[in-house]
Amino acid sequence: MYKKVIVFEGIDGSGKTFHLNQVSKYLSKKKIKFLKIREPGGTKNSETIRNIILNKKSTLKKKTDLLLYLAARNENYENLIKPNFNKKIILIDRFTDSTMAYQHYGFDINKKIIRDLNNYILGNFKPNFTFFHFVPPKYIKKNISGKKNKYDKFNKNFYYKVQKGFLNILKNNKNKLIIDSSKTKKFNIEKVKDKINKVLNINE
Ligand code: TYD
Repeated sequence: MYKKVIVFEGIDGSGKTFHLNQVSKYLSKKKIKFLKIREPGGTKNSETIRNIILNKKSTLKKKTDLLLYLAARNENYENLIKPNFNKKIILIDRFTDSTMAYQHYGFDINKKIIRDLNNYILGNFKPNFTFFHFVPPKYIKKNISGKKNKYDKFNKNFYYKVQKGFLNILKNNKNKLIIDSSKTKKFNIEKVKDKINKVLNINE
């Protein structure tokens, strides 16, 4: 079995966290050890940073947010990813593609700055596989139900831009699977599981 790093990406409300949790349950059932991380968040310090960024009352500037996302990522990388790399399967809820999609395609921050900051923190490290949870544009909602952070005030157009950004970023990534979130949960759970079995070399 391979100890790979697998990322779940998608706009808010796309179902990425649901599917990550399904995979966690599946691995637990098979008694396979894994580590689950969310971004922003992860360690105690990066959860503190998460609360600062996503606080509904936050008035932080977009460049401040960018630096905080990267700060949280550095804590995760040093404390969780690096020590467990190749030892455990690592599942991550959002990673570098989210930063490019939201901060560049959504908020127009320079691409090169984002790339350089990620490289500064991660060096040559790259996840092995990405699940991208795609929401067909007609299903993108203005107010994403249940959202309690400051990103719930963005309009549909913002999410169109971010999702287009994701697709652009992932275009040349061979190690990805696009999950259409308008399909049934059952169908998608099976699709993700089949891919997980292949990527992690699990025999059912
Ligand atoms: P998340 O906790 O994944 O929210 P949800 O599960 O409700 O989709 O992410 C919180 C927000 O942080 C989300 O709106 C996207 C944003 N974000 C960025 O803008 N840049 C980043 O680099 C990351 C990791 C997240």
